[in-house]
Amino acid sequence: MELLRWQLANSLKNNQYILLDSAKNAVLIDPIDRIEIERLRERLGFKVKALCITHEHLDHAGEAGSLQKLYNARVYASQKAKGLIDADVTTVANAETITISSELSLRLFDTPGHTAAHAVFEAMGFLFSGDCLFHGGCGHCNSQSASLEEHFETLTHRLAELPGDFLVMPGHYYAKRNLEFALHVEKDNKRTLDLLSRLQNATDELQHQTTLKQEAEYNPFLRLANKSLRQTLSDLTNRNFMQVDDFTVFQELRSMRSSW
Ligand SMILES: [Fe+2]
Repeated sequence: MELLRWQLANSLKNNQYILLDSAKNAVLIDPIDRIEIERLRERLGFKVKALCITHEHLDHAGEAGSLQKLYNARVYASQKAKGLIDADVTTVANAETITISSELSLRLFDTPGHTAAHAVFEAMGFLFSGDCLFHGGCGHCNSQSASLEEHFETLTHRLAELPGDFLVMPGHYYAKRNLEFALHVEKDNKRTLDLLSRLQNATDELQHQTTLKQEAEYNPFLRLANKSLRQTLSDLTNRNFMQVDDFTVFQELRSMRSSW
C-alpha cells in the first residue's frame, strides 16, 4: 500500500491524502484539491473507489459530491454525518471496517467534539485524524455542533484507547504554530524545544511525523495532568490550576489557543 500526501497552499494548510493498493485502487481522504487529484490520477492511473470524510466542514467535505459524481465512488462518513454532507453518503458505525479491496481497508472511529459528526479513519497504522487531533494541538470547538465536553472525552479516552504506534495524519499542517503554543504553556518541555528547532518551513512541517504515543510527550491537549504545564498555566493566568480536574485545564488551554 502507498500513501500520497500534500499540503494545500491556502491559509488553512489542508492536507490531502490518497491511499493506493498495488492494483491502483484509491481512497481519497477529505479531498478538496480536485485539480491535483485529477493530475495525479492521469499520471499514475489509479481508480478512485472511495472518499472518506472526517467531518462536514467545507474545507474537508466541500468537494465530496462533485468527486463522487466524477469517479462514481462511494463516500463514507460517520452515522451522525448523514444529511450534513452534500453527497450520497454511506454511513459507517464506530469501529466498523470499510473494505475497498483484499489489500486495502479502513476503520472508522467516532471522535465527536470538533463537530458532533467527526470521525477518524485508520488504515495500515495511519490515523487520518481530520480536525480532531493535530501535530501538537487539536481542533477548535467554535462551530455549531461542537462540544468541549465531547472533544475532551475524545482526546482523553477514545483516542487514548487506540494503539500508541498509529501515525497521526492530521487534516491541517499547523505543527509550527502548535509547537510554539505548546512551549508557551509548558516552557521546559525538551521534546517540544527539540521538535520546534527542526521546523523552519512548510517542507519541514510536511516531514514532521509523530505517533499517538509521541504526541502525548509534547501535545498540551494530551498532557492535562502534567504538573509543569499546570504550573505554567497558573503563572500565566494568576489562577491555581494545580488541584483542578483535567477538564478545567483542557477548557483553559482550548480557550487560550483560540485567541493566541
Ligand atoms: Fe473543521
